[in-house]
Amino acid sequence: MAEQIVKEAPNRTAPTVPFMDLVSEHQRLRDELRQIWDGLLDTAAFVGGPQVDQFERSFAEFCEVKHAIGVANGTDALVLALKALGVGRNDEVIVPANTFVATAEAIVHSGAKPVFVDIDPRTYNIDACQIERHLTRQTRAIIPVHLYGQPADMDAVLAIARRHGLKVIEDSAQAHGARYRGQRAGSIGDVACFSFYPAKNLGACGDAGAVVTNDDDTATAVRRLRDHGGLKKYEHHSIGYNSRLDSLQAAVLHRKLRYLERRNEMRRRHAETYNELLASIPAIVTPFVPGGVESVYHLYVVRLEKGNRSDLQRYLQERGVQTGIHYPAPIPCTPAFARFNVHACPVAEQYAATILSLPMFPDMEERQVEYVAKLLSDYMEVI
Ligand SMILES: Cc1ncc(COP(=O)(O)O)c(C=O)c1O
Repeated sequence: MAEQIVKEAPNRTAPTVPFMDLVSEHQRLRDELRQIWDGLLDTAAFVGGPQVDQFERSFAEFCEVKHAIGVANGTDALVLALKALGVGRNDEVIVPANTFVATAEAIVHSGAKPVFVDIDPRTYNIDACQIERHLTRQTRAIIPVHLYGQPADMDAVLAIARRHGLKVIEDSAQAHGARYRGQRAGSIGDVACFSFYPAKNLGACGDAGAVVTNDDDTATAVRRLRDHGGLKKYEHHSIGYNSRLDSLQAAVLHRKLRYLERRNEMRRRHAETYNELLASIPAIVTPFVPGGVESVYHLYVVRLEKGNRSDLQRYLQERGVQTGIHYPAPIPCTPAFARFNVHACPVAEQYAATILSLPMFPDMEERQVEYVAKLLSDYMEVI
């Protein structure tokens, strides 16, 4: 039956719906961004400098924390945060099985071992109830990931961390501006890491990242690590990295930060429309957002309780709708992490096969959301 509808001719007057639309966003900002670039050409201060200081101040204020330290990308932000907290060889770090690979990669790069915990079947974030059974004498830290823009169960994570003397590193790479019980994602744990990869809610025109914290010593350690171990040129207190933030990216991010709240609100509106229109389709499970949590819908991820996902993706693609999968396999099930795959994560494994990310970007038109929802409804009716 599904085959039949896949073969039907697409309606050529229907809107096409990309998964996201970075081109239109940046075309609208073209003049502002050109001014930034021209200003930098006048000074030739391409790395560090006032643009970086200014962005760090504005991003710290936005996150409601004391310090923001710009770095080269979100993966480095995680590595530097782990190292700044002293995590290294012979340590273990708790991490959810469903996340972008960088969260786990950073743990391995710090010298520690990732210990994967299954996800909560309703929120898809780390299942805090399962963390304690995976703690050992080597456990040093927990990295809750605010996946898809929705903060993890931080009260439970912090309570466990306090009981066992563990550090908490929030992976906030997908959650710029989200809130958990009134607090900004990124202001709750010991330290938090952001990515400004172009497709993120706050995206640069290239790679960029930041570490944020309220702790002065952690901030100083990250500042040193990002620039060859020193705060001043040719001063080397520790073995560091070159993970500085470009001035161009800092200036772009500072400008785009002005629009972030409004654009997150646009995402939330689209999510509400999806929620309403998809509610009547029993085979589609829409995102569950617990009370006290404000998601910023970096992604809008549904789960299919019937039908074939590839078939549905093809059906949507043929009608001009792009979709994604975040992520196709739990990290411990990927070849790179096979040696850390020591216990099953059945929820993450089952969900990896049935989740589907629908188009979601601030400038989406309501008729595009309606069109996607209508196609899903048509598809589910006939299979
Ligand atoms: C959850 C998560 N963590 C970490 C990262 C790594 O960030 P970056 O790509 O800037 O290195 C990403 C980015 O895709 C992410 O989504």
